[in-house]
Amino acid sequence: MTGAPWSSGVGRRPDGAVAVAGVDVRDLAAEHGTPAYVLDEADFRTRARAYRTAFEAAFGAVGTGVDVYYAGKALLTVAVARWAREEGLRVDTASGGELAVALRAEVPGAEIGLHGNNKSDAEILRALDAGVGRIIVDSLVEIERVARLAAERGVVAPVMVRVTTGVHAGGHEYIATAHEDQKFGLSVNPASGGESPAMTALLQVLKHPELRLLGIHSHIGSQILDPDGFEAAARVVLRLRADLAERSGVLVDEVDLGGGYGIAYLPGDVALDPERVAKDIAQSVAGVCQDLGTSLPRFSIEPGRAIVGPAGLTLYTVGTVKPVTVSADDGTDFTRTYVSVDGGMSDNIRPALYGAAYHAEVVGRSSAAETVLARVVGKHCESGDIVVHEVQLPADVREGDLLAVAATGAYGRSMASNYNMLPRPPVVAVADGASRVLVRRETEDDLLGLDQG
Ligand code: LLP
Repeated sequence: MTGAPWSSGVGRRPDGAVAVAGVDVRDLAAEHGTPAYVLDEADFRTRARAYRTAFEAAFGAVGTGVDVYYAGKALLTVAVARWAREEGLRVDTASGGELAVALRAEVPGAEIGLHGNNKSDAEILRALDAGVGRIIVDSLVEIERVARLAAERGVVAPVMVRVTTGVHAGGHEYIATAHEDQKFGLSVNPASGGESPAMTALLQVLKHPELRLLGIHSHIGSQILDPDGFEAAARVVLRLRADLAERSGVLVDEVDLGGGYGIAYLPGDVALDPERVAKDIAQSVAGVCQDLGTSLPRFSIEPGRAIVGPAGLTLYTVGTVKPVTVSADDGTDFTRTYVSVDGGMSDNIRPALYGAAYHAEVVGRSSAAETVLARVVGKHCESGDIVVHEVQLPADVREGDLLAVAATGAYGRSMASNYNMLPRPPVVAVADGASRVLVRRETEDDLLGLDQG
């Protein structure tokens, strides 16, 4: 039990139990309870560094610079924001709440970006007051909103315009479409032969003295395992940048290519390699700029999952085990062993929301038993409350066993809920043989404290 999809600090001890960064999972469970999100700090830092150094080297080699923003939506706590900063990353936030965490971590405003397709006045004002390095605007309405609020504060707001390139990626496929039927960004494609919404927005920003146009932003999707989509989107953005220069005389300095770098969720999955993808993108954008006759802009990227996803696992305790006879399509019967754990869709909504696949193992002991086809389910009042759709577990899996699900660091805690009034689990960091709580477990009192009776 080493290597992907587990974090680099995960391994079996001689007695068969698993340790994370030198901490036995039985000790983690005894000290912090289950379910718990366990975060391997060294693994997070190594991935953050790997992305930064790979992109700096590749873009440096073609003669430009790059900034790596950690996408806080994947998981943001004060400590996590500090780790990102200490590893030379900036922080991308998607709401006033995420911005508040980054600021609490003393990330300088200039190193923070603010996203969102419907930012409130309060969120924008908070960003302006914090002196954020960039506000990524997402609509014509919002351009006016940011300009009005910047004027109110007597500041000039640094903005990027989020565009949709028609390149939609995720998994191994990308499909170029003229218009994307989704809420984000402004299309680079003209509505009916006229000017594209993206061009309209860029020109609109340039008209405002309260706004400083930093550049163009594109995010094409998530869990992308084929770098072609990034290159295709970059081509479209760089062409738009050249067109804008032709129209307005302004060649913007920056281009952001968003996040979406894919990771391994199951044994055998191959994650996107940051060195390879950085080189591919850098060489491709250099060629495109040469063809367009423009200088290279400074680039930025916003990986979230690729930094924190593999660094996290969720530790559960098994409560019940139930063999269920299932009729297969061909009419034969087989047994699926339902293993219920003490969490579920409230701590990881991704299987229910996206059909996401995960891997699990019994981690409190080793077992010489044969394996059985199991489904790990939660404790919620819902049959779709599935944690792992399909996994081979030892046939002797039983009540009290500790079970870990791999690669839950991204979008687990950050999308957690209190469904069925379940308090959300803690986030526990492990490093060098010691654990510490980054976010404590919620209590029923926390939840009842919100209820005004
Ligand atoms: N930048 C922007 C503008 C984004 O919208 C996102 C993700 C990212 C960066 C980070 O993407 P990443 O590198 O983490 O893939 N909740 C979903 C994913 C939705 C992500 C939305 N935006 C999930 O659980 O897979």
